[in-house]
Amino acid sequence: MAKSRTGSVDDLRAEARKCQDCPLWANATQTVFGAGDPHARVMLVGEQPGDEEDKKGLPFVGPAGRLLDKALESAGVDREHLYVTNAVKHFKWRLHKTPAQREIEACHQWIEGEIQAVKPHVIVALGATAAKALIGAQFKVTQQRGQFVESALAPYVFATFHPSALLRLQEDEEREAA
Ligand code: URA
Repeated sequence: MAKSRTGSVDDLRAEARKCQDCPLWANATQTVFGAGDPHARVMLVGEQPGDEEDKKGLPFVGPAGRLLDKALESAGVDREHLYVTNAVKHFKWRLHKTPAQREIEACHQWIEGEIQAVKPHVIVALGATAAKALIGAQFKVTQQRGQFVESALAPYVFATFHPSALLRLQEDEEREAA
């Protein structure tokens, strides 16, 4: 049966440090829990920590995080006012491998706990993994990005591209526009 977690973000973070509910913990440096304002109105949910996040123990501090910061700055959004986290809290070790369904499911207890603790007004799923974890397996980011979906998780829930998807665009102009 799926586990559920309650408590403040700090309580959850402390518990998640010990999580061994899927095999990813074994090769990761540490659990990378969410960070930011624990009462933020807006929560951003990415996929899973990368190499730099694994080392620093913070979400979105590597190349994708730098692009995210740039996008937030252009949009006039201060990252300090957000809560930023990931659907999966351990690095997969081999770069660019997306999390498996069982890893997303094992980690669901944490994202669910974070949402209950933060109670955001808006949740933004960044990319297909976060959309799968929060909205459902049938959701297609390419077709439905930016559309609000009915959800018990928060009053406003939608998905958009993951910053890494933009990093994969080859042309500077194309990337800038995206
Ligand atoms: N870094 C993160 O913290 N999350 C991602 O989804 C990608 C990079």
